[in-house]
Amino acid sequence: MEKELILEATHLCQTFHMNEHSRVDAVRDVSLTIHRGEVLGLVGESGCGKSTIARLVTGIEQPAAGSVLFEGLPVSGPHADAVQKKKLHQKVQLIFQDSAAALNPRMTVQKILLEPVHIQKFKAGKKAALQKAIHLLAEVGLNETYLSKYPGELSGGQRQRVAIARSLMLDPELIVADEPISSLDISIQAQIMMLFLHLRQERKFSMLFIAHDLSAVRFISDRVAVMLQGKVVELAPTEELFQNPLHPYTRSLLSSIHVPDPVFERNKRSIPYDRTLPLGDTLHEKQPGHFVLEPLH
Ligand SMILES: Nc1ncnc2c1ncn2[C@@H]1O[C@H](COP(=O)(O)OP(=O)(O)O)[C@@H](O)[C@H]1O
Ligand SMILES: [Mg+2]
Repeated sequence: MEKELILEATHLCQTFHMNEHSRVDAVRDVSLTIHRGEVLGLVGESGCGKSTIARLVTGIEQPAAGSVLFEGLPVSGPHADAVQKKKLHQKVQLIFQDSAAALNPRMTVQKILLEPVHIQKFKAGKKAALQKAIHLLAEVGLNETYLSKYPGELSGGQRQRVAIARSLMLDPELIVADEPISSLDISIQAQIMMLFLHLRQERKFSMLFIAHDLSAVRFISDRVAVMLQGKVVELAPTEELFQNPLHPYTRSLLSSIHVPDPVFERNKRSIPYDRTLPLGDTLHEKQPGHFVLEPLH
């Protein structure tokens, strides 16, 4: 059976006009799909257009060109009606890098968790919603005593756990996580990655997982897309990408991953990427499901 597409972004372009004379082509002809239950990793350096993609696929921002379909219906533009917007609000959740900024400092954890429910008018009632909040807190590793705390009383990792619990309150179909571990201490990053892995197995949501380095997406993603300067330069199943990287930029990213192996580390050389090279124009499928931007020079 064909795997069901949950998200389909086609030929997305986004341009920001700074003033009459200067503009930024933040996203240039990007097409992506996510199947039901799939995790797609999106990787690239700062400024390459990842967050813009996150805003476009969630309908927060309208693309200059191209389209985004969620469960077959447009997420923004004149064809996205009120019913569709409400559905998106419930079924698609965003988790940000900076959860401190994303959580209202004047709200207790309880209020924060019940807020999406309040907005969506949880059918099962307030008591059931509170039970669910407590259950989700436990699932992200926090006990009931956290309900009365304010974001300012929590560590960065705890705040991100609350943000994750909040994103799960309405049982989303798709989670867009925009660098959810980047602002955390290294030791906490591993814990939050383990939490994402666990939740993914338990809840079987689909996810766009954005990160700036490949090591973060390796264990959570089914496929990985590598972005550079607004374009997807390579897209492949995760292990295929790690075993057989084709684009010089992907190779350069892979060569700079820290590997905790003293022998390998000694022999390893970081391959610089030559930014004067043309990126390529069109994605070509070199192996089944493995796309690379060509022509390469
Ligand atoms: N609202 C905006 N106005 C102007 N420029 C923007 C805006 N959002 C993003 N950009 C620019 O678009 C490019 C891509 O940004 P972004 O999507 O945030 O990249 P990333 O998330 O990969 O760091 C950058 O050059 C950034 O400065
Ligand atoms: Mg970003």
